[in-house]
Amino acid sequence: MTNQKRIFSGVQPTGNLHIGNYLGAIKNWLELQEKYQCVFCIVDYHALTVRQNPKIFQKKILEVAKIYLAAGIDPEKSIIFVQSDVLQHTELTWILNTLTKIPELNRMTQFKEKSERFEKNVNVGLFDYPVLMAADILLYQTDIVPVGDDQTQHIELTKILAKRFNKIYGPVFKIPEGLIKKEGARIMALDNPMKKMSKSSTNPANYLALTDSPEIIRKKIKSAVTDSGKEIKLDLQKPAVSNLLMIYHLLSQQPIQEIEKKYQSKGYAEFKSGLAEIIVEFLKPFQEKFQELGKNEDYVKNVLSEGAEKAQALAEETMKKVRKKIGLIN
Ligand code: TYM
Repeated sequence: MTNQKRIFSGVQPTGNLHIGNYLGAIKNWLELQEKYQCVFCIVDYHALTVRQNPKIFQKKILEVAKIYLAAGIDPEKSIIFVQSDVLQHTELTWILNTLTKIPELNRMTQFKEKSERFEKNVNVGLFDYPVLMAADILLYQTDIVPVGDDQTQHIELTKILAKRFNKIYGPVFKIPEGLIKKEGARIMALDNPMKKMSKSSTNPANYLALTDSPEIIRKKIKSAVTDSGKEIKLDLQKPAVSNLLMIYHLLSQQPIQEIEKKYQSKGYAEFKSGLAEIIVEFLKPFQEKFQELGKNEDYVKNVLSEGAEKAQALAEETMKKVRKKIGLIN
């Protein structure tokens, strides 16, 4: 291994992956894999903190793998694997659990939100979720964690736990940094610009799924909430239009000002139909590759098993040091 920086990130195989997941996380991974040693995980154990249907869970896991590949994550350059294939994740979670204080988990906003949303299933796993995430990151001696801004608190906890372990037992873990881009780190819901786009939303009009057909995309954009007035402008007073403008900008690579100028004297309807075409065009090659991979599931499974082998080797290197430091026999 070279002294190249190590990148780690992951996505839960739940709901429908959307344009927010792409712009907040996966898009940045594509740039990073050209320069750094990247490890991209499908975090199936995290997903289990909310009840999953066993009949479709495996499909969801493979779907995320296909999305990674179709988006351009290259298994020749990056490691792609499934969390539950590398047992060291749960092993390290247990050890980190013994260093985590209950108030540190109590204040996690995601836990509070999910406890309200899934009030009938506030399980210990949901509470412990951030510790599993810390284990994911620390196992790989990660330098950089590219994520959307909803993960900031989890990364802060990861740093605290890494420093605490190193202080008590001696240096083992690298202290990672989050990479949260200024643009795209928080894509808002189409039906409510005050809430983030969410793949677990019960209302499909909330999100633009990466697998939505052109007709559905046109329909969803058409019915997306807008603000009062009719100007197309990036403006704090115009959260809905600003969100749509940001999606336009990030997918088309056209500067915001140019887009504003283009639609200066035009209304929302024209802007929206322009945006829908930008999204449809952008998703076309992605969806073609995604379909293609669907016909070749053996290839996808093979990528995952090779990825798991490489990930295991890296994770075991760290776990050997951890076990030794804390005085375990093996
Ligand atoms: P998850 O599966 O909820 O989301 C995957 C990635 O997408 C980002 N994201 C967004 N970005 C912009 N706008 C949005 N509306 C939006 N919604 C989601 C998320 O920030 C994330 O980067 N806990 C993580 C998964 C995880 C992980 C890890 C990530 C587990 N272990 C280790 C990094 C490193 C999660 O729930 O992501």
